Amino acid sequence: MPPNCEIATSTDVVVGDLLPEDFAGALARHASRLGSFVGRIRYFDEVTSTNDVVARLAETGATEGTTVVAAAQTAGRGRRGRSWLSPAGAGLYVSAVFRPPAIDLLTLMAGVALAEAVRRAAAVPAEIKWPNDLVVSRGRPWRKLGGILAEAVSVGNRVDYVILGFGINLRGAAYPPQVAARVTSLDEQAGLPVERSAVLVESLAGLAHWRAQLLEGRVDALLARWRALSPSSTGARVEIETGSGRQEGVAAGIDERGALLVRIGESVERVIAGEVTWL
Ligand code: BTN
Repeated sequence: MPPNCEIATSTDVVVGDLLPEDFAGALARHASRLGSFVGRIRYFDEVTSTNDVVARLAETGATEGTTVVAAAQTAGRGRRGRSWLSPAGAGLYVSAVFRPPAIDLLTLMAGVALAEAVRRAAAVPAEIKWPNDLVVSRGRPWRKLGGILAEAVSVGNRVDYVILGFGINLRGAAYPPQVAARVTSLDEQAGLPVERSAVLVESLAGLAHWRAQLLEGRVDALLARWRALSPSSTGARVEIETGSGRQEGVAAGIDERGALLVRIGESVERVIAGEVTWL
């Protein structure tokens, strides 16, 4: 396909492919809802990881809203060093640049935006599983529908930019047996094919909406929405790593900085990162 854009630096060139018609049409129709994403979306048939491509753009000064969408990734990354299987057409693979201010609650913000996007675009009742898994929980155990990978780049002790990558499973893929039982897709949950362009537009519109809320300081509204979309964060039995080994407790919601609170006996542990096992 002919390249439609090119960014050149002394050492590097990032070229994009022609935006497919379904994406181009939907993005144009919804431009008024897309905030800083308008005019900053770049498409590729295949990349290693959309986070890597956006990182190269951000390094050379790409502004907030610069976004890379790919049809396939050959080295998609998940959290905690895991890989993210990204075959062509099976998922939506997207990364975007965010710059200060108000980037502290970005992953929480993305969870809300994407859960709402999936509800709007496909009428699938997506929920958030702390910290930022998109899941469907009708018929436990949860099945994962998507995930978010935020990577921050700092200069000194100041965050310069955050790359927010997300993957949403559109249709089933040949997942390895160890994950197949824990994964689902929009098509499977909706019971019919879901338009990828609708999922992309609603995702970006949701991110633009909640980003504006964060910039206006409406943290309480965001936290309230996150809590409503994450019923498992309150009352579920969990196991976490503590100073004295793995311990069982009860999830008690998130605090205002996004940490998961876990009640163990009389005390409350604050989990910032790390593996939480839902029992
Ligand atoms: C997770 O582990 O749940 C996070 C998965 C994030 C996957 C997305 S797909 C687009 C972007 N590019 C990557 O390499 N990873 C993220």
